[in-house]
Amino acid sequence: MSFNQEFTDYVKDSFGPKASPKTHRILGSLIQHIHDFTRENHITVDEWMWGVNFINRIGQMSDAQRNEGILVSDVIGLEALVDSITHASDSKGHTSSAIIGPFYRENSPEYPYGGSIIQQEVGGEKTLVSGKVTDTHGNALKGAKIEVWHCAPNGLYEQQDPDQVDYNLRGTFYADEEGKYAFVGLRPTAYPIPYDGPAGDLLTLMDRSPMRPGHIHWRVTHPTYHSLITQIYDRECKHTKDDTVFAVKDDIIVDFKPLGDVPEYKSQGVVNRLDYDIVLILEEEIQKTRQKVRDHQAASEKSIIDRKNSLA
Ligand code: BEZ
Ligand code: FE
Repeated sequence: MSFNQEFTDYVKDSFGPKASPKTHRILGSLIQHIHDFTRENHITVDEWMWGVNFINRIGQMSDAQRNEGILVSDVIGLEALVDSITHASDSKGHTSSAIIGPFYRENSPEYPYGGSIIQQEVGGEKTLVSGKVTDTHGNALKGAKIEVWHCAPNGLYEQQDPDQVDYNLRGTFYADEEGKYAFVGLRPTAYPIPYDGPAGDLLTLMDRSPMRPGHIHWRVTHPTYHSLITQIYDRECKHTKDDTVFAVKDDIIVDFKPLGDVPEYKSQGVVNRLDYDIVLILEEEIQKTRQKVRDHQAASEKSIIDRKNSLA
């Protein structure tokens, strides 16, 4: 047998009767792309072994605090691509999603309207962040749950930093009757993703920076709306144009402004403000778009299984 498409079909056709249609479609496609890549690049045993060792190192570096698989995905744009596919919709006018990254934690402390997520002074510029959560028609979404998190000016999230208290710079808020929310945090700082492992090796090979622009992470949820996971980026940060994980989108770049005359926050040392409204989309709108994809996948699985049955 020659190691051309005939060989690839032989491998794909080897699946047993218990393999599901989805396994045929996804694993079959993966095998097809990997074989094509290998032929196209004339991969040798030494190069393949480099790849095997690289994948092994991803696992060896990962533990409860560090997820090297996510980091490697991120530097090749894979998490950003998967995020855009997961949250695709044919509707317009809602806030864009962005990757969740590896530092989200559930159950962050709940604070009242206007509360501060700075449990411990770590420097940086205190900022009042406020706005409204609405649907795409501008209707207030009372009770929307807003979780936010960002790193300290040293570039570390609290779980990476033994000098920060638990849940520092994270908080949960609920939108009020008019959909309004407000909290005090810090103007976010740019930081490098961890680059002392395989993800960093890839960045070195590609001659790229490990820096992420200053950003605040958000997770906004409401029972009838599609959960929004996103980030906002500081327009003035020099890394907003070359995010190492490719997560920046135009509508989530924001402008921090001087606080102005707001005595109640000035007295707390707040110097900036960020006015930011969030627009959620109905879950059923997302599901309409997703159904088209599911129909396409079902047709593809049917033709794979029909072909397989015709060979039997
Ligand atoms: C983050 O935004 O927290 C992040 C995203 C990707 C890789 C590392 C960190
Ligand atoms: Fe982050």
